[in-house]
Amino acid sequence: MTYRNVVATRLGSPKVLEVTENELRAPAKDEARIKVLAASVCRPDITVRRGEALYTGTPLGQKVPFVPGYSIIGTVDAVGEGVTRTKVGSRVGALMAVGGYSEVVYWKANRLIPVPETLDPAEAVPLILNYIVAYQVMHRAAKVKPGRSALIIGASGGIGTALLELGRLAGLKMYGIASKGKHEIVTEYGAIPIDYKKQDFVEVIREAEPGGLDYVFDGMMTVDYIRPAYSLLKRGGKMVSFGEPPGFSTLFRVLGQFALSHLLPDGRTYKPYGTSFYTFNQRPYLKDWATLFDLLEEGKIRPVIAAKFPILEAAKANELLESGTVIGNIVLLSPELL
Ligand SMILES: NC(=O)c1ccc[n+]([C@@H]2O[C@H](COP(=O)([O-])OP(=O)(O)OC[C@H]3O[C@@H](n4cnc5c(N)ncnc54)[C@H](OP(=O)(O)O)[C@@H]3O)[C@@H](O)[C@H]2O)c1
Repeated sequence: MTYRNVVATRLGSPKVLEVTENELRAPAKDEARIKVLAASVCRPDITVRRGEALYTGTPLGQKVPFVPGYSIIGTVDAVGEGVTRTKVGSRVGALMAVGGYSEVVYWKANRLIPVPETLDPAEAVPLILNYIVAYQVMHRAAKVKPGRSALIIGASGGIGTALLELGRLAGLKMYGIASKGKHEIVTEYGAIPIDYKKQDFVEVIREAEPGGLDYVFDGMMTVDYIRPAYSLLKRGGKMVSFGEPPGFSTLFRVLGQFALSHLLPDGRTYKPYGTSFYTFNQRPYLKDWATLFDLLEEGKIRPVIAAKFPILEAAKANELLESGTVIGNIVLLSPELL
């Protein structure tokens, strides 16, 4: 028996993605074998494949060939020796960083996320990465309170639209920075759009919020945004950057800003956020995923899905995300869900 996956044969454009056939094997000790129902296509898939991720070229960088795909939802179809808590037939998710563009994945059973079977995998898969980032940025890093003001940088993307939706639920007054053609989604969530190509966001916010902002959620993590956006915070304000820094020099500036805001307190705080802490402590993530699944089940959130593709057409999905036209999320689905 065989299964297929989509392999990045080298670093580069979506053209390096090739469908490969593999022998199905029994899961190893402590491992589960999962039939993938849905996989997300997200920005980190692209930066890793293009060799633009921070650690590319260092010993921590991704080795090629590899299967991209940050997160999946699927059904456990076999378990290895020693697996007692995960049952065959269970609906699960996995935050994998790489490996998700595949009909079948093998993953450590103790790192699986329980997913309610009642949820549509296409709608639930954006919760595994984009929504957990948005939720934790808002509720764990910034601890938002209703009625407060927030600026979202990169409001039209997968995480940006999740922030807009969760921000509306949290009762925030929001401003969203996005290109002009994507302003409709920003206003749909009740936020005030700012066109970063034509408007100076600092001027716009200073005029609209003369007392300063309570929160900034920064999905860019570039020098164009970090200092100017931080300067818009009021006393007690919090800025959280969750974007991937484009290089080590930006990362050092980010860490400098973080250190400065702690060593020379000016009443405002700056924090970088990353899902990598999941490796060390799963508990808060599992709690937050359960909350997000409940919100989806209750119809309180509904991720924006820009496009759905068969899993093996991941290259087309990657081209679409790289085109810069996408609003929200792209998902890959197994044939029975299309
Ligand atoms: N911290 C973590 O654990 C974590 C996890 C996942 C992703 N990330 C990072 O978070 C960031 C956002 O991810 P995503 O999945 O939401 O990406 P995405 O879906 O590609 O969205 C990014 C959005 O940014 C907008 N944008 C591009 N240039 C901009 C600029 N100069 N100013 C304002 N907006 C701009 C783009 O649309 P328009 O320009 O057309 O408006 C796009 O919609 C990425 O850097 C990603 O690597 C971090």
